Amino acid sequence: MGKQRPVGEITRGTTNPNRLRRVDRYILNQPTLKRPTPLVVDLGFGANPTTTLELLDRVLGVNPNAQVLGIEIDPERIARAKPFEKDNLHFELGGFEIPIPAILQTHEVNLVRAMNVLRQYDESEVLSAWKLMQQRLSPDGIIVEGTCDEIGRLAAWVTLDRQRVISLTLSFRLLGLVKPSKVAERLPKVLIHKNTSGNRIFDFLNHLDNAWANHSPLAVFSPKQRFAASATELIAKGWPVTKEPKRWQLGELTVDWDAVKP
Ligand SMILES: C[S@@+](CC[C@H](N)C(=O)[O-])C[C@H]1O[C@@H](n2cnc3c(N)ncnc32)[C@H](O)[C@@H]1O
Repeated sequence: MGKQRPVGEITRGTTNPNRLRRVDRYILNQPTLKRPTPLVVDLGFGANPTTTLELLDRVLGVNPNAQVLGIEIDPERIARAKPFEKDNLHFELGGFEIPIPAILQTHEVNLVRAMNVLRQYDESEVLSAWKLMQQRLSPDGIIVEGTCDEIGRLAAWVTLDRQRVISLTLSFRLLGLVKPSKVAERLPKVLIHKNTSGNRIFDFLNHLDNAWANHSPLAVFSPKQRFAASATELIAKGWPVTKEPKRWQLGELTVDWDAVKP
């Protein structure tokens, strides 16, 4: 039987070294990476595989038995990446269906990183793309799907398991941050057009801006303290923000999906 046509479209391949450091830091803390030989998929790595190589390096730091598979829908980008293959790094032509090459057939997919991929799709295509990717996951596998700016100072992503969307994470470079709602321009595709009055994500970002403004006196000490105080205020106001003071210090917070979903 012939191979099925990759699901998706070739889009702009813009990428940058170290751009995905924030999302990678989040990925490294995911329990599924503790599996004996986890398989991590980088879906849509772009014009060159730099961020896939970075992902491999980082993942090996927490699990030396991990395997990374870079997938691209553009055959030329796959051809460019192939020379970088090694025992624990593979590249395969494909799309949201996530084809697994023969050499990895015994592996389940523990984690999919799909950053800055769905951004160039229509909003109506998001759910079917998620569903296809979810079908490939191991029982404790997750998908991290989102968007960041060109140099990775601002990022937002959703985390999904096999059945559902779990959370939204926002990640900021705190130095020089004026208003957290700046992240609106980097929201995952499913939310980017929903930042308007009457939608929960709009309310959430408003509350975050207000909390950030309320705690401006802390800026003289450090923006980290200011951000942590803002996250604490959101919890006090009833937002289901995960209580993770260490991550707040890094300018990152996670909120339950149900509280912000469209
Ligand atoms: C903007 S680049 C992102 C590169 C890298 N992930 C980053 O964040 O820097 C998006 C890439 O995703 C690829 N792409 C789009 N749809 C895809 C799909 N369904 N499956 C695999 N790759 C896809 C495009 O060809 C493009 O190279």
